Amino acid sequence: MWVSTRVRALGLVLVVSAGFALAEEPGGQKPLRQQAAKDKELRPCVPDCPTGARFRSFDPAHPPPAGAQTFRLSQDYPEFYNPTERFPWETIDYAAEPEKYLRAVLAYCLEGNKDVDFRGQDNPKRKWYHAPWMHDDSDKNKAGAGREYHHGLTRERRSRPFELHTLQTSTSQNWAVGMVNDRGGYTLGQVWDTSEEYPDPTRATFPDHTVSFKLLFTAAPVTEVPYLNGSLEWTANTYKDAASYAPPRVDRTVRLLQLDVAVKDSRVAARSGWIFGTFVYDGGAPGASVWDRLAFVGLSWGDDDEVCDDFKKKGAFTNPKLKETRLNADLIEKPGHEYGAKAYLRHFGLGGRLNGPVDNPVSSCISCHGRAATYAKPLPLSDESGLPMETGLLTTTDPTGYPIAEFGRFFRTLRPNSHLERDADKLFVTTDYSLQIPAGIRNFYQHLRTQKPVIERLEKRGAAKLKADALPGLKPLPHLERDGTKRD
Ligand code: HEC
Repeated sequence: MWVSTRVRALGLVLVVSAGFALAEEPGGQKPLRQQAAKDKELRPCVPDCPTGARFRSFDPAHPPPAGAQTFRLSQDYPEFYNPTERFPWETIDYAAEPEKYLRAVLAYCLEGNKDVDFRGQDNPKRKWYHAPWMHDDSDKNKAGAGREYHHGLTRERRSRPFELHTLQTSTSQNWAVGMVNDRGGYTLGQVWDTSEEYPDPTRATFPDHTVSFKLLFTAAPVTEVPYLNGSLEWTANTYKDAASYAPPRVDRTVRLLQLDVAVKDSRVAARSGWIFGTFVYDGGAPGASVWDRLAFVGLSWGDDDEVCDDFKKKGAFTNPKLKETRLNADLIEKPGHEYGAKAYLRHFGLGGRLNGPVDNPVSSCISCHGRAATYAKPLPLSDESGLPMETGLLTTTDPTGYPIAEFGRFFRTLRPNSHLERDADKLFVTTDYSLQIPAGIRNFYQHLRTQKPVIERLEKRGAAKLKADALPGLKPLPHLERDGTKRD
């Protein structure tokens, strides 16, 4: 069949660098990117942006009231960046002084942004950029996770009762928005601003000192999570009920809970290539501003792939065997302790690896992000164009039942940069630890394959063989969310 033949052909070229491997196929066939160009007529509705901008800012299925001030996607992706720029964290030993390193990164992320309410394009110090195609996950049967119109927040993993605090009795939804610096924006432009208008994941190779950060907000009330006291409050257009996510969306107050960062650092190029780190907001900390009250949770640059110790252990603990993770042991929950508005953590990631309070205890920053990848076939409209690679065994949150076989599959530090990876008998192009790229690519193809004019053109071209007529009826592609590729 067409799809599987193509995949088999790609299987033959499983070599070092995906950029080049994908450019030429064996047997003198045309490079795949040129074939995508040939299909130009298949894109009459991509993008379908009403404002003239290339990418939409928020989900049109959940429109703002007339006259509302709305979120604008920062999408003027730069074509150049200054390769000689120096950064304050370059000289800090991330392993010996992890908190100092991460606070230097945090200061850079906040500079200018906190004064313009995180509108990256309005930052007078340096511009920051958003990833496209996170506005709409094109899943008409279920409530979407796409960007809301106030601040461009997307839906994150929800927090189960008692994950955040012993007083947390309800499930709470979490929403987040991330931005990248100019080096990250340059790479987003490389991937998305192609002449063919199809995203090209093989160009997802981020330069050193790309910085990405994400503000995560929770709808959990302060009565259930007292350390949210005095946190940054935003209005967000979210769902009424975190259990069902049933529309319509409604405005509510959400509070900053967690702040994630990721920095491409050449010193760890032999491992993940990235330093991931996170902070939790601490309402009991003495700092004068919200930003001063962020507590350092930890950082990590690899998954210590060989260390299986303690991977079935529950709760928050440090694992002395881990060499590639640094955690703040002061935040570990002391059962029975009276915390008041002070923050503490009830879990990290699997086996004491780094994860944040909103994350699943059986994953880690590195394991989930290392598997950032999209199906390695850039031609449009196969059953599997846009399919993301599975990011983990996230149907459970309980490490006691975690199977060792899955540990080997998911806790394997992958090389950074773009290359081919085989998983579950399929080939994927990895996107250098960025999960916003395959999430956007998934949404792009999901949207494309539901567009009637596209389907009609395919049919006219005798594309029945491509199963084009069946595409709109296909099950939607799995979502790429912080809860994994499968919805729970
Ligand atoms: C189980 C999966 C999972 C885990 C664990 C996870 N993330 Fe993510 N993360 C995602 C997904 C999916 C996205 C893209 C969607 C989005 O941003 O809403 C993302 C996006 C991000 C981004 C934006 C840049 C990008 O393109 O990926 C940053 C920065 C980030 N995460 C940092 C972290 C940090 C730090 C940790 C650990 C404390 C972490 N993540 C743990 C799934 C995960």
